[in-house]
Amino acid sequence: MVFFRQKNRDLSDKIDKNKLPIHIGIIMDGNGRWAQKRGMMRFYGHKAGVNAVREVVKASRELGIKYLTLYAFSTENWKRPKEEVNFLMDLLVEYLSKEVDELNKNNVLINFIGDISVLPEKCKIEIDRAQNVTKNNSGLVLNIALNYGGRDEIVKAVKKICTKILNKELSIEEITEQTISENLYTKNQPDPDLIIRTSGEKRLSNFLLWQSAYSELWFTEVLWPDFGKEHLIEAILYYQTRQRRFGGV
Ligand code: FPP
Repeated sequence: MVFFRQKNRDLSDKIDKNKLPIHIGIIMDGNGRWAQKRGMMRFYGHKAGVNAVREVVKASRELGIKYLTLYAFSTENWKRPKEEVNFLMDLLVEYLSKEVDELNKNNVLINFIGDISVLPEKCKIEIDRAQNVTKNNSGLVLNIALNYGGRDEIVKAVKKICTKILNKELSIEEITEQTISENLYTKNQPDPDLIIRTSGEKRLSNFLLWQSAYSELWFTEVLWPDFGKEHLIEAILYYQTRQRRFGGV
């Protein structure tokens, strides 16, 4: 334990505080494989994944990250067995009911992105509570992507923009990239500077498609339940070696 703390401190010291990513997105992958490797049911992997969520939220606060977006449940995850979907929803309810007060004390603003209107009532109640209790906080913004899909988000933005045009609140000529950004779930937030995906898969899987246009991508073999502060620091150190040109030279 002392060894790990020492290791964290050593790595933290290497971080250039002036070049921190403002917004980090994480595709939390590998819960099922983590459990299967231990001869356990996939559910245990998700449960262990919540501990990693707790640790990474705390580490992000400590490191001074301003926005953290966690991909908790995609629009495609409904294809999983009903028992697993129910278990994930229950885990979220449990996480929120146990953690919101602590997150609030730590000045975290909780925000959900995705279509939450179709989620079970028990989830919606906890989501509303989490967002209401923390809405005036000025510390870390924790976006939890739930029933989220990047394509679905863009379709919804297009519909909102078309409605504004039909209502004559906007003309076609006025549409810019900014118009699209302002009609996404992440409106008023900076695009992610760094996207992390665990478990060795190298794809975006419909995560923040519009917003990730210029994100740096970090893929690690580490399975999500094993991901902790030292891995987050490792990703940030990689990010700090990148020269971001945004299409320029
Ligand atoms: C991917 O692993 C993980 C998920 C689909 C769920 C992520 C959920 C959590 C970490 C817990 C709840 C979240 C919060 C914010 C409290 P997988 O099941 O696809 O793993 P596999 O690829 O190894 O099968």
